[in-house]
Amino acid sequence: MEKIVIEGGNRLEGEVIISGAKNSVLPLMASTILTSGVNSFTNVPDLDDVRTMSKLLVMLGAKVEYDSGNLEIDSTAINNWIAPYELVRTMRASVLVLGPLTARFGKTRVSFPGGCAIGERPIDQHLKGLELLGSKIIIEEGYIETKAKKLTGSIIPFDISTVTGTENMMLASVLAQGETILLNAACEPEVVDLANALNKMGANISGAGTDIITIKGVSKLKPIKNYEVMPDRIESGTLMVAAVLLSGDLLLKNCIFEHNGAVIGKLIEVGAEISKVSDGVRVKGTDKFKSIDFTTLPYPGFPTDMQAQLMTLMSVSKGLSIISETIFPQRYLHAGELRRMGAEIKLVGNSAVVRGVKHLSGAPIMASDLRASASLVLAGLIANGRTDISRVYHLDRGYDRLDKKLEQVGAKIWRDKE
Ligand code: EPZ
Repeated sequence: MEKIVIEGGNRLEGEVIISGAKNSVLPLMASTILTSGVNSFTNVPDLDDVRTMSKLLVMLGAKVEYDSGNLEIDSTAINNWIAPYELVRTMRASVLVLGPLTARFGKTRVSFPGGCAIGERPIDQHLKGLELLGSKIIIEEGYIETKAKKLTGSIIPFDISTVTGTENMMLASVLAQGETILLNAACEPEVVDLANALNKMGANISGAGTDIITIKGVSKLKPIKNYEVMPDRIESGTLMVAAVLLSGDLLLKNCIFEHNGAVIGKLIEVGAEISKVSDGVRVKGTDKFKSIDFTTLPYPGFPTDMQAQLMTLMSVSKGLSIISETIFPQRYLHAGELRRMGAEIKLVGNSAVVRGVKHLSGAPIMASDLRASASLVLAGLIANGRTDISRVYHLDRGYDRLDKKLEQVGAKIWRDKE
């Protein structure tokens, strides 16, 4: 296994090209199950989760080729509807095949995705939606089995805003008989990216990006050609925090300013200078930053996927910061590791109280989940001395060579054998 080693303190300056979004490319890959032919995507990030989803599609019978940002998925020969435990347990987003497999075959057998480091991750809303569309749901031996002769359009009122729940129901209903209306749908940009792609395949979806999405069933979808995956707003946000943390000056190319409103708002409150430029977003840090409070919320609120990264910034800000995590209340495994570096963090229920300290000190620490590992990389960049971060496979699931990108703008960071 590999570890990442960082010598802290270097200022960051220069430009970084933001990669395609993990949480957009995964549902896009699942959508190819609804077609029969060769689908192609560009700006696809080089991630372990993309490789895992590719493996799953190959298991189902697809042919998948990936070559430096270009992904080709031939779904013609997909003839299997089973997503096995050993694969689903490594990536919860595999649940995104539930909808399209049920739509294509009228049945599927998908391992029940377990919990993960950030919480129990229920999928009751996905199952409720499939039942409303006319599917039978049987849960046994840790598998979900769906059975539906034909899915029929329905009103699906979500009890809670769920990103993959919304995406799964879009994927399940595009070929259903009649009209489906999703109420309390998730508004994330990745939902919009998926709807845009499905409409290019011949679907009839309106309202994506709002909390009411209407899907008029069509008879067939055609494979999509050269669809460009949207930039990753969480990678952008992570690099914005890095620029502020290191009093740096970064130009984030391809970053979509409007996708990062809540994060930009908070970083300006902290004291950063952030501006929208022709080819992205420019972020300049200052040498002292204020502690602020923030609460994670569904889009366009402050994203839970940026909570750990902003906690790192708050751990060396001036003052006291109160963080409330309303999406995944246990998403604080990074706090213990930051404490090892000298951070003063107190967890109270689903909140964390962070008292800024003068500096963090480098230490051997351990990554626990994707965004926690990003927050630990940020901590290593600002800490005095050397930090060794083990279990970086967590980072490689969802960041496309983040360490290389940081090195290119001045960080002293490298990989070593663990
Ligand atoms: C997506 O996960 C993202 N993953 C997550 O990113 C992100 O943290 C999350 O949305 C919230 O923005 C992908 O898109 C692949 P949810 P998802 O369903 O869809 C509850 C990362 O780091 N809920 O929107 O699984 C749930 O417990 C990952 O890139 C139910 O109660 O999250 C949570 O409290 C981590 N029942 C809330 O809804 C359900 O059926 C939001 O979860 C579904 C969800």
